[in-house]
Order: sequence, then C-alpha cells, then structure tokens
Amino acid sequence: MTETPAQPPAPTTGQPVPELFSWEFAADPYPAYAWLREHAPVHRTKLPSGVEAWLVTRYADAKQALADGRLSKNPAHHDEPAHAKGKTGIPGERKAELMTHLLNIDPPDHTRLRRLVSKAFTPRRVAEFGSRVQELTDQLIDGFAEKGEADLIHDFAFPLPIYAICDLLGVPREDQDDFRDWAGMMIRHGGGPRGGVARSVKKMRGYLAELIHRKRQELTDEPAPGEDLISGLIRASDHGEHLSENEAAAMAFILLFAGFETTVNLIGNGTYALLTHPGQRRRLQDSLAAGHTDLLATGVEELLRYDGPVELATWRFATEPLSVGGQDIAAGDPVLVVLAAADRDPDRFEDPDTLDLSRRDNQHLGYGHGIHYCLGAPLARLEGQTALATLLTRLPDLQLAGDSADLRWRGGLIMRGLRTLPVEFTPVA
Ligand code: HEM
Repeated sequence: MTETPAQPPAPTTGQPVPELFSWEFAADPYPAYAWLREHAPVHRTKLPSGVEAWLVTRYADAKQALADGRLSKNPAHHDEPAHAKGKTGIPGERKAELMTHLLNIDPPDHTRLRRLVSKAFTPRRVAEFGSRVQELTDQLIDGFAEKGEADLIHDFAFPLPIYAICDLLGVPREDQDDFRDWAGMMIRHGGGPRGGVARSVKKMRGYLAELIHRKRQELTDEPAPGEDLISGLIRASDHGEHLSENEAAAMAFILLFAGFETTVNLIGNGTYALLTHPGQRRRLQDSLAAGHTDLLATGVEELLRYDGPVELATWRFATEPLSVGGQDIAAGDPVLVVLAAADRDPDRFEDPDTLDLSRRDNQHLGYGHGIHYCLGAPLARLEGQTALATLLTRLPDLQLAGDSADLRWRGGLIMRGLRTLPVEFTPVA
C-alpha cells in the first residue's frame, strides 16, 4: 500500500494500537490482529483512503456481523459523500451498471439474482469441469518444468484461474489472452478504479456485453444451445423472470472479478505456507503418493483458514444503529469484517497460529458466511486442490528460491497475496 499509514484513534486500553496498513503489516498482519482481538475487538480506524471504518476481529462477532441484515452491502447507505469520488475503495453509486452485482446488493434483489445464477453455476457444472482444470494445470507446469525455476505467481497462480473462469463462462480461447492482460492490469494496480485499471474494466465490460449479446442471438438461432455459463445465465429464469443483458454482464463480471485474484492468492499463499512448513508439506506429499485425497481436502481448507486470500470481507454499511460485540455502531458507518483475524481466534480454533493440514473442526470464515457466502467455493476448492496436488507431485523437490524475508506482499484492503513467488526445483522433461 503506497499511502501513509493512517493513525488510529486512541486505544480503549491506554496502550498504543499497533500500526495497521504499513508494509510490515502487509507482510505479517497476524500479531496486530491478535492485539486487536484482545484489546479492541470492534475497532474504529482511519483507512489509508481516509474513510473511517469499524474493524471486527473476533470470530463470534465476525460471524454475527456477516449474517446481520442491518449491515447492508449497498454503498448508498454510506453517509460520506467522498466515496462517490472513487478514492476510498468503496464502490461508487454512480459507477457502471456492472457494479449492481451480488456483492453490492441486499434482499430482495440479491435473493432473486443469486437464485438465478445458482441455477447456472451449479456444483455439478463445476465438477464436470475437473478434467479441464487438470489439463490447464498441467499445461502451465509444462511451460516451466524444464527450466528448473519459475515465478509461481506469474507463471502459474495468476493464469490458471483466469483461463479456468474464461472457459467456464464460455469466452472463446482466442480471446482469453486479452482477459489475461486486463486482469493483469487489475491485479498489478490493485483495486483502485483509476487510469489503466479503469480502462481494463471498461474493455472487459465492453467485451462481455458483446459476448452476451452474441450468445443470446445464438440461443435463439440454434436448436442446441451452448453449455457454457453465460448461455446458462441467459437461459436461467425464475417465475418467468430472466436476467437482463445488463444483469448478465454484471454477473459475468463479478464471477471473473471475485473468482480471479482470490484463487491466485489461494494458490500463492497456500504454496508459500507449504514450502515454509516442511513437515506438513511432507505429510501431504506422502499422502498424495499413497493415492489418498483426504489430507488434500482438509489441507486446502486449513490453508484458507491459516492465511486466506480474503483478508477483509467486502464493505458493509449500518442501515440503523446497532451493536456488534458490545460496541455501538451508528447508522451509515462502514463495517469491515476481518476474516483473517477471525480465523486465528483462539476462542474458536485450537492452536490457531499452527498450520495443521488435518484439522477437522475447521469452520473457517475464508469464504464468508450468510447470504453472501462465496458462490464460487466449489470451483475455488477444485482449482486449489488440483493446483497444489499437481505441483507437489510433478515437482517433488520444489523449494523457495531466495529468502522468504525478501518476498513482497501486495498491500490491498480486501485481498492478501504475494506479488511474486520465486521457486526452484530439479528440471523435468
Ligand atoms: C463471495 C471468498 C473464489 C465468486 C465471496 C465472499 C468471500 C469469498 C469471503 C463473501 C464476501 C462478503 O461477504 O463480503 C473467496 C475465496 C475464494 C473465492 C477465498 C478462493 C479461494 C471464488 C470463485 C468465484 C467466486 C472462484 C467464482 C467464479 C463469488 C461471488 C460472491 C463471492 C459471486 C458473491 C456472493 C454473494 O454476494 O451472494 N467469496 N472466493 N469466488 N464469491 Fe468468492
């Protein structure tokens, strides 16, 4: 994060609040979160963008807040006009139709749109996609296996989810590298809707609108409609209601947007955690070699809990005065639920700072909770499990190249992930 760290208000305990949103914090936010959980579990702070928001860090409070209907997702409930200027990271009201998507709306619109998309984005459709994800994973590894070194973010974690989601949506293969470029721009410059990022979003929007229009034509013209997700979205109807082209475009956009950087970080953070915990990594490798998948399944959930891709859930705004964890919150106040802090809460998880791939009692909040619970969780699990299992199997002596202290973490408000992950291994033909 480039801005000067904000100075949080005076602590309730008389002790200094640890510095939030600095470079050191981006590299390891967990000590600061432990402090907040203990001393200021619902803490008002000034974010680097200048907006004041409440940070909720205890598991029980986080779970309650995520499911509390008085905390709206609609940015119109925010009381500061500043967000309309687009500098705060809060989605502006005046921004494109694309912003009217699941993560920015409340019931009843949310219920209707989520029901419609759920008809197209089914766990079955995702499961059928398993062999394609494996094929993509192998192709990407083929691209660097002979070199004996790679940047796992650039060469692997970044392209895998973008090609996967493009395929699932039905973006033709010849156009997918455009998406790779646009997504690269968005991830490199993180979040803010400025300059090149705004141009990339605009291009993506234009492309999706055209694609949806074309597929709608195809659906009327052809007797055998496409099996891709966009065709499914266009076909989905509920009590006679269809998605409009705008709604379908916003939906395709949020699927790309929500499903992209998150999965990059699951693969990046997950691989990093495995490479820095050799005992756990060996257990997983042995279990994969023996043909077992149990540890892989519990392991990916544990990696999400231990160092998940989504550090803070997306914005919520109080529609009326309410209390969270005993703290009064005024109407209009923004609330950020810190998933990464809740998932290390010792009141919920035994030895929360220990990575234990076989952890069973693991209802982490990495995918959120309540009506906005991650729609793409089955796809994320499929990609995460395939990516990690294939890496460890095909490149068994994979290790970090260089010192892990030199790694740079991308400091964004919502996401947590590495900029690069240089690795080395014995080259394989
Ligand atoms: C919502 C995490 C992958 C689509 C969410 C939320 C979280 C999350 C925490 C809730 C946010 C909130 O309540 O503010 C993750 C993680 C992923 C991942 C950790 C990867 C490891 C995906 C993928 C897709 C996806 C692959 C789709 C292709 C969505 C959508 C929502 C959502 C559409 C909004 C649901 C709603 O508002 O009803 N995700 N996600 N996510 N996610 Fe994911």
